[in-house]
Amino acid sequence: MAKEFFDKDFKLGILGGGQLGRMFIQEAVSYNVKIAVLDPSKDAPCANIADEFTVGDFNDYQTVVDFGANKDVVTIEIEHVNVEALKELEKRGVKVFPQPHVIELVQDKGLQKEFYQKHEIPTSSFQLISDKSEIKNLPIVQKLRKGGYDGRGVQVLKSEDDLKEAFEGACVLEELVAIDKEISVIVARNEDGEVRTFPAVELEFNPKANLVEFLFSPANIDKHKKAEARDLAVEVAEKLGIVGLLAVEMFLTEDGELLVNEIAPRTHNSGHHTIEANFTSQFEQHLRSVLNMPLGKTEVMIPAVMVNLLGEPNNEGDATYLGLNKILKTPGVHLHLYGKTTTKPYRKMGHVTIINEDLNTAKSMARKVKNTLKVVAK
Ligand SMILES: Nc1ncnc2c1ncn2[C@@H]1O[C@H](COP(=O)(O)OP(=O)(O)OP(=O)(O)O)[C@@H](O)[C@H]1O
Ligand SMILES: [Mg+2]
Repeated sequence: MAKEFFDKDFKLGILGGGQLGRMFIQEAVSYNVKIAVLDPSKDAPCANIADEFTVGDFNDYQTVVDFGANKDVVTIEIEHVNVEALKELEKRGVKVFPQPHVIELVQDKGLQKEFYQKHEIPTSSFQLISDKSEIKNLPIVQKLRKGGYDGRGVQVLKSEDDLKEAFEGACVLEELVAIDKEISVIVARNEDGEVRTFPAVELEFNPKANLVEFLFSPANIDKHKKAEARDLAVEVAEKLGIVGLLAVEMFLTEDGELLVNEIAPRTHNSGHHTIEANFTSQFEQHLRSVLNMPLGKTEVMIPAVMVNLLGEPNNEGDATYLGLNKILKTPGVHLHLYGKTTTKPYRKMGHVTIINEDLNTAKSMARKVKNTLKVVAK
């Protein structure tokens, strides 16, 4: 008989053992799916909770092939992984979701932009350059084609003076969009081609860290825009032919136009609230999609605000959390600590989700949480 996901010898491998993997394992336990993790750090957030934990570099060809060879399905929680190794695993009959060609495209912001252009998916106008000497018109948004994450590798160049700071090497130059709102739609697609989207959420960024500070669910946009955003996310997922989860980050411009900013072929920071606030969490949905199960209902059960717990500036060292008890007294507050021992300025150390029947009440509670709970060095 074919192996079933709940069988003892069935193994799902994840490249990357950070917080996304950790929350994924929490859901996988409910399905009795055994999880193996590959991560370079022995102290990674997944280290103590995976069924099998391998310390190794997910960018190294042989390490990834050796890790994946005896797995039934391999997935990722970070897209900066060795794609050639994943292609080899696919050849050997391992199911790799998202598929290597999708990961390859997403790893390069330049290829991503060309993909949107080719498929007529609305996106900001852009130019690909190989050297900063090609920058002519300011202001402009400069993005490293490869290797950036969490806002690192993205900068706005406004004046001639800023050019000194311009990144070296292959980059995308994008028009500076007048953004009204940043929204995200997470879409799931399984091998049978079933597709489901989570309702759009709204993201508020910390301008210093260039990181998501607050997430509001549902997004405060009209229902036509919500439907448009949903359709756009589905279109991207179907044109990619992805199996797995895909987060589609979009800008709603001041002119009321929706533009795709970028995509992530995995669980995403913009879906953390789904654990408490939607019928199915993004982690469960990812599991269902890569194991070709029927996808779960995604509707909002209750409005939510998610606050990222970022390491305080000027603090580096063993982490401690100030104000924990105070926030835990507030009804509807859900704490997630990622188990990272060392805090660094703006490092994602955890998150808090606040659920409330009224989104505005949840918002004011979230501001209080933000001001009360601090991650500092001991
Ligand atoms: N063309 C643009 N015009 C205006 N603002 C932009 C543009 N591109 C990016 N930004 C701003 O910079 C942020 C980070 O850009 P982007 O999402 O491309 O980078 P990233 O490092 O991959 O992000 P992350 O990993 O945090 O999702 C965006 O969320 C947005 O606030
Ligand atoms: Mg982004």
